[in-house]
Amino acid sequence: MQNKFTIAANWKMNGSKEFVQMVLDRKEELQVKHSQVILFPPSLYLSYFEGKEIAYGAQDCDHREKGAHTGQISAEMIKDIGASYVLLGHSERRQAGESSEIVKQKMQIAVTKGLHPVVCVGESEADKKAGHTLAVLKEQIEASVDFDCPFTIAYEPVWAIGTGLTPEFFEVNAIHKWIRSEVSHFTKKKIDILYGGSVNKGNIEDIKACSDIDGVLIGGASLDIDHFMEIIVRSK
Ligand code: PGA
Repeated sequence: MQNKFTIAANWKMNGSKEFVQMVLDRKEELQVKHSQVILFPPSLYLSYFEGKEIAYGAQDCDHREKGAHTGQISAEMIKDIGASYVLLGHSERRQAGESSEIVKQKMQIAVTKGLHPVVCVGESEADKKAGHTLAVLKEQIEASVDFDCPFTIAYEPVWAIGTGLTPEFFEVNAIHKWIRSEVSHFTKKKIDILYGGSVNKGNIEDIKACSDIDGVLIGGASLDIDHFMEIIVRSK
């Protein structure tokens, strides 16, 4: 990652050739000095961004090198079409059964192939209500991350994803500080910590003002191109 505020867009299973073209038509608006924009479209559309001077990555990769794994996409293929990043361990994948141990294997192969992994962690609503947020984050981070690798963390409270609900951002900032200190027990590298969960043009300025939030991971609001561009403008 660069030394700039990061605005990452996770399209999830959304988008089309037409939407890709709409984004490419406005690529100058993505190339701002104050922030680094990274797009995570569905893998099928990654190749449309090759050579377009836009940072992009895949939403997942397989934990194995290659072989008889029908439907899977390898880290090497993602690198081969010019992507630099991969999202790993998103809560929607964890909810579908992906374990932290598999996330760590994916991270290791991604880094071996030259991709920068963005590892997602976050507590559920039940964890939060039970007061287990930090314990859950500690377990997820220690089990999902190989601290010898370069990486970025995306802290995404599961209950804030796609709901319009967010924690108070001073609470997010405190959690980011805690994650930074937790990670410092294992590596001396300075890491970026993004926040994700209902980020929009109405809250980006408050988020940007937080000292320990290095960027955002945006789902829904990245699918409305005008809204997304407004977030970029307001992240200044
Ligand atoms: P959201 O999704 O912005 O729609 O809440 C964020 C994410 O899942 O990464």
